[in-house]
Amino acid sequence: MRMPWRDRHGRLLPIKAVVLALAFVPGLVNAFWWWAGDLGGRPLTEMIHATGLWSVRFMLISLAITPFARMFDWSRLLLVRRMVGLTAMAYAILHLALYIADQKFKLLFVASEIVLRFYLTIGFAALLGLLALGVTSTDSAVRRLGRRWKQLHRLAYPIAVLGILHYFIQTKANVSEPVFVAGLYVWLMLWRPLPEAWKRPIATYAALSIVTGLATVGLEFAWYGIATSIDPWRVLLANQSIDFGLRPAHWAFVVAAAVAMLVPLRRLTIRRRSASGGATPGIPLRR
Ligand code: HEM
Repeated sequence: MRMPWRDRHGRLLPIKAVVLALAFVPGLVNAFWWWAGDLGGRPLTEMIHATGLWSVRFMLISLAITPFARMFDWSRLLLVRRMVGLTAMAYAILHLALYIADQKFKLLFVASEIVLRFYLTIGFAALLGLLALGVTSTDSAVRRLGRRWKQLHRLAYPIAVLGILHYFIQTKANVSEPVFVAGLYVWLMLWRPLPEAWKRPIATYAALSIVTGLATVGLEFAWYGIATSIDPWRVLLANQSIDFGLRPAHWAFVVAAAVAMLVPLRRLTIRRRSASGGATPGIPLRR
């Protein structure tokens, strides 16, 4: 069996070793806080939240890998896409296991809750999706499924929607965090269908950050309007000011704008490196 930090020739791949180590960090840190008694009166509930949150985060990171590899001409990132996706799946499995433990291992009760509570049904569907992607991510499954593999793995996009929706519904009042996550998801999804010729100009990235910010405002407005009794117009107008800190749409804009600024910097570095004769390691990317 090949170790995850080695390539098929047995060579050590530092990027894989680093990402594998990082994947354990949130779990270990939270386990340490639990052991140290820092998770308050309901540590199991805190652990359920932390594992759910990290599952969504890793899911989003896995969706960002292809766009980032292209935006930053950094093809080695693609080497860790599978590992990051599997990490999202592992945290989701742990999340369910902790929920079962919290329910004192009453499996029939857990099953009925999943059937009866809409947000749990959605979470379960997302978990099944992640499992389907996980078991078909081996080299042999990729070979066996051929072209169908790519089609199957496009399910990652609706699975992420389910995960984020589950996050929204379980967050009772202030949905700022899920709104921010949804904004980042929209940003990544807006980039993907762009015509190839548009994926190079920096203006595209600047425009994308503005559209992302506006789309996040729209999402937040829609959520408060549809799912809560809070006046969505008040929430919408709150985006005009940053007196009480940045709102989720501002944050989504800031992240997208930061990337828009980093893209030309990265290109400059690559150009300088190749002018001075240095090699840019990686797999050639489509332009
Ligand atoms: C059978 C599957 C699942 C079950 C039973 C489940 C159950 C739960 C429960 C009980 C909570 C806490 C709700 C509360 O305290 O009121 C929660 C929160 C959460 N879950 Fe799940 N979940 C499942 C799948 C997933 C999956 C697949 C993801 C990610 C892709 C996910 C992400 C989250 C997130 C982000 C939170 C909120 C964390 C926070 O507020 O800090 N869950 N889930």
